[in-house]
Formats: sequence, C-alpha cells, structure tokens
Amino acid sequence: MIELRDVSFGYDQTMALKGVSIKIQPNEYIGIIGPNGGGKTTLLKLTLGFLKPQTGTIIKNPDIKIGYVPQLHRFDRLFPLSVLELVGLGDVRAKDWKQKAFAALEKVNLAEYAYRPFSALSGGQFQRALIARALMTEPSVLVLDEPTANLDVDAQEDVHALLRSLKKQITIIMVSHDLQTIVNEVDRILCVQGKVTSSLPNEICEHFAVGLYHKPLLDKEQK
Ligand SMILES: Nc1ncnc2c1ncn2[C@@H]1O[C@H](COP(=O)(O)OP(=O)(O)OP(=O)(O)O)[C@@H](O)[C@H]1O
Ligand SMILES: [Mg+2]
Repeated sequence: MIELRDVSFGYDQTMALKGVSIKIQPNEYIGIIGPNGGGKTTLLKLTLGFLKPQTGTIIKNPDIKIGYVPQLHRFDRLFPLSVLELVGLGDVRAKDWKQKAFAALEKVNLAEYAYRPFSALSGGQFQRALIARALMTEPSVLVLDEPTANLDVDAQEDVHALLRSLKKQITIIMVSHDLQTIVNEVDRILCVQGKVTSSLPNEICEHFAVGLYHKPLLDKEQK
C-alpha cells in the first residue's frame, strides 16, 4: 500500500536518510524506533508527502487517506480552542465537522470534554484528542510521531489501548522510544538510523537495543 524504493533525503547540512527501501502492507502495525536525530520524523514526512525524496521513489496506493499525529512541541497547547474545535481541525472543509468531531471524540473516549478548552486536558487526554483529530477524515493509515512521549504509565497505556482497538482495521505507523512496549504491540519494527532496517518483534532483543541507543565505544577513526 506504501512503498519506498531506494529513497534518500538530506536537509541543507545533514544527510538524514540514505537508500531506504520499505514496503508497508494494508493493516500492518509498524513501530519505528531509533536514536534522536536518526531520521524517524523525516521518514514519516516523506511517507506523508510533506517532503520529496531527493533520489528514489515513493509509491502510494492513490486511494489511501493518511491521518497524522505530529510530534509534540511545548507551544502546541497555547491556542485558545475547545477540544471539539481542535479535533474539528482534522477536517476543516467538512460541513458536518461538529458531528464528525464528536464521533471522533467518542472513539477516543473523550466526548464529555468536547466543550472544555483543550489546554485543560491532561497529557494523555491531549494525545488522544490529537489522535481523534487525525481520525476525522477516516484514514486508512494512521501515522503517529511519539504519541506517548512525556506521558505517565497509565496515560501511555490509554494511548496504546486506543491503538490496539484500531489495529487490524487500519494501518498504523508509530514512532516510539519505548522499545519494550513497541515489541509487545506491533507486527513489525523499523529501526531508523540514517538507514532503515526491518525486524520482527521477536528478533529485537535487549542487546540490540543497547547497540542502537548507545554510541559505539570506539570511534571508527580510532580503530
Ligand atoms: N527542518 C530541518 N532542517 C535541517 N535539518 C533537519 C530538519 N529536520 C531535521 N533535521 C536533521 O535531520 C536529522 C534527522 O532528524 P529527524 O527529526 O528526522 O530525527 P528523529 O529520528 O525524528 O529524532 P527525534 O527522536 O529527536 O525526534 C537530524 O540530524 C536533524 O537535525
Ligand atoms: Mg522525531
């Protein structure tokens, strides 16, 4: 349903991704892991079409709709909107956006918060509201960039339970630093560190995680 063929992308100074070839099948649940700056967000933006590959090609089934839950930044909660309005932004052109936003809020179990300012939501509720926003267009693919970052354990579990309820109905692509959870939840894991490798959850052992998140002890030049 989505295929990247030998895709490379760099920003002005940095080569972010090199020679990436992956195929994503309908209704797969994909977890993306990798160190800070490894290129995870860049990979999502290429998949979404926000960035164009410098070499290689991306082939997408033209019928797919993608919902996107971006990586959060501190300032994202300063706008004076209600929860319903925030969710409605997921499909501003829909005439019946209020009904659709309510339906989306029901899916994430937040309907009772519709008329509260979204700045009053807890971290976990806010993430679920952002997922509701991404579900407004009834996407066949849901892309989430670190949806559980900065959440306490209970709120993380709420988000994962929500994703579990969507699993097998839509394709889910989720970036997370929580390797343990990823291994338990997803069908397949992509490790992104300039290059992308694909593994099955049972192939990821702790040893591998250590290698991924820590710099090599010896610098290549010193060897
Ligand atoms: N808009 C940009 N302009 C220039 N360089 C960028 C830009 N966005 C990302 N980069 C660089 O590209 C590389 C990959 O960044 P990216 O945001 O994809 O990493 P990431 O894996 O999502 O990291 P994190 O875990 O911190 O979110 C990094 O070296 C980063 O500094
Ligand atoms: Mg990122």
